Amino acid sequence: AQAQKSGPSSFAFTEVPHVNDPIHHVPDAYEVQILIRWGDPVLPGAAAYDPAKQSGATQALQFGYNNDFLGLHPLPTGSTTGDRFLMVVNHEYTNSNLMLAGIGEGREARLRADQPQAEIEMAAHGGSVLEIAREGRRWKVVDGSRYARRIDANTPMRIAGPAAGDAKMKTSADPAGTRVLGMFNNCAGGETPWGTWLTCEENFYFYFSGDGTKHPDQVLAKRYGLGRTVAYAWGKYFDRFNFDKEPNEPNRFGWIVEIDPYDPQWTPVKRTALGRFAHEGCHYAVAKDGRVVCYMGDDSRMEYVYKFVTAKAWNPSDRAANRDLLDEGTLYVARFDEGGKVVWLPLIHDQAPLTAENGFASQADVVINARRAGDLLKATPMDRPEDIEPNRVNGRVYVALSNNSTRKPEEVNPANPRAKNEHGHIVEIAPKDGDHAATEGTWEIFIAAGQPGTHEGTKYHPATSADGWLTCPDNVTFDSKGRLWIATDSGEIAGIADGLYACDVAGEGRALTRQFFAAPKGSEVCGPTFTPDDRTLFLAIQHPGEGQGSTFETPSTRWPDFKDGAPPRPAVIAITKKDGGPIGS
Ligand code: FEO
Ligand code: CA
Ligand code: CA
Ligand code: CA
Repeated sequence: AQAQKSGPSSFAFTEVPHVNDPIHHVPDAYEVQILIRWGDPVLPGAAAYDPAKQSGATQALQFGYNNDFLGLHPLPTGSTTGDRFLMVVNHEYTNSNLMLAGIGEGREARLRADQPQAEIEMAAHGGSVLEIAREGRRWKVVDGSRYARRIDANTPMRIAGPAAGDAKMKTSADPAGTRVLGMFNNCAGGETPWGTWLTCEENFYFYFSGDGTKHPDQVLAKRYGLGRTVAYAWGKYFDRFNFDKEPNEPNRFGWIVEIDPYDPQWTPVKRTALGRFAHEGCHYAVAKDGRVVCYMGDDSRMEYVYKFVTAKAWNPSDRAANRDLLDEGTLYVARFDEGGKVVWLPLIHDQAPLTAENGFASQADVVINARRAGDLLKATPMDRPEDIEPNRVNGRVYVALSNNSTRKPEEVNPANPRAKNEHGHIVEIAPKDGDHAATEGTWEIFIAAGQPGTHEGTKYHPATSADGWLTCPDNVTFDSKGRLWIATDSGEIAGIADGLYACDVAGEGRALTRQFFAAPKGSEVCGPTFTPDDRTLFLAIQHPGEGQGSTFETPSTRWPDFKDGAPPRPAVIAITKKDGGPIGS
């Protein structure tokens, strides 16, 4: 790429071109380090990665597959030096076709899994806690850290909040409805002001087999698509993943899970007050009175945007006082009106229409079937809400809407104005009086993605370059100046690799997106996270080599190792500027 004038943009990096090839790309002045890859050791006694020797037991001690959300928690707690962190990582899902030899192509091939394969998959899901340290510009994972942890599809967890102990949460293994094993399909996430990790269970229904038309709760089964798309064979070997045998087990997934990275013995907690849906992310803001507001998206077509407001203010001087803060509060769903007004509608049992006559006997019913509660309140059906993140500099909230190719012309609404929206858009919300607890605000479309001049209805700054347009926004983050960074997940729909784009949100460069990073073929860019000093940007490169015809034997890339005979490996990378300066400067 040639050095380019950045025009009105505040960014000075040389823009990366649109490509679609087996390697990653960063601007000339930047460098990429591989921090950790799928299969690298995490816990003591872990074997070194060997593609020929994977098993559930080896995988349980190694870094999981498909790194997604990344969070940084300073060490020691509250430290501001910024050279040591606990990094928390989601492992969303597995691509067995790429991980293991001899599987073949596609979902049908994965569904032929034997039990050892299912055990590898279960151990490769969940999350990791890593201790990481910086020397100069080099980052390393600290060997033998006492904080190191793997969480997977079998980790014991507690269920808290209004659904805990409800009849719909009880199973033969857990007659009290308060304990569950594991989490999976954890896509994005967030953190709390008291330094815990919030990790989001997204497409949990892919993991449960059974006949959805015979499920005893047809209302719930239909609204969450039980049995519609099954992508894993776990139900063949473990009864709890077969809802013909264990009808309530799916109700115990689709939640926000809180994990304390500073305490490796702590039992993760599913916080049911925040509702059950295909959770993408969970980013907080603090309201004027100190209550904590968590913004969340339900990443499915025509699903909703939510926020949760705690009942009490958080306590900055006593960490333990916040331990169960997320169990009490109000869940809201968003309605985007014409004229740029957004209204947050409370999901409260016994407040019309969420009454017993309408099938909601308790707040447990409301949170377990949050989607139907949103339907009755006439929330606005969105184009797949992914990350929803408040900007700490300007106080506004950015809603990434990935795409929705099936929206019909008669289904468009002011906040989702394109039928067959293949490229997605970003909505910017300004809470009323700058208070995140407010039940009203204003909104506008910040960008409408796609290629200007080629795809219909795009919206960008007019100075956006031929390499600066993007498609399918997913994860977003901000640098310390409050500038927006957008990661994409497009499945190559526009023929370009996924990437990371940066733009100003204020001033003359507002909405002028510029491409900073291009990912290796088949991968999606996840988890963008800056160190507090902006001098390192971490990215989770997920499912390199995913796509048609790409298998362990014939992958479309062998990123990042490029070793003959070895598969591509999802990995976390650290990007620094060669002169040590802030990223994007
Ligand atoms: Fe797993 Fe919403 O992307
Ligand atoms: Ca995502
Ligand atoms: Ca996505
Ligand atoms: Ca993905």
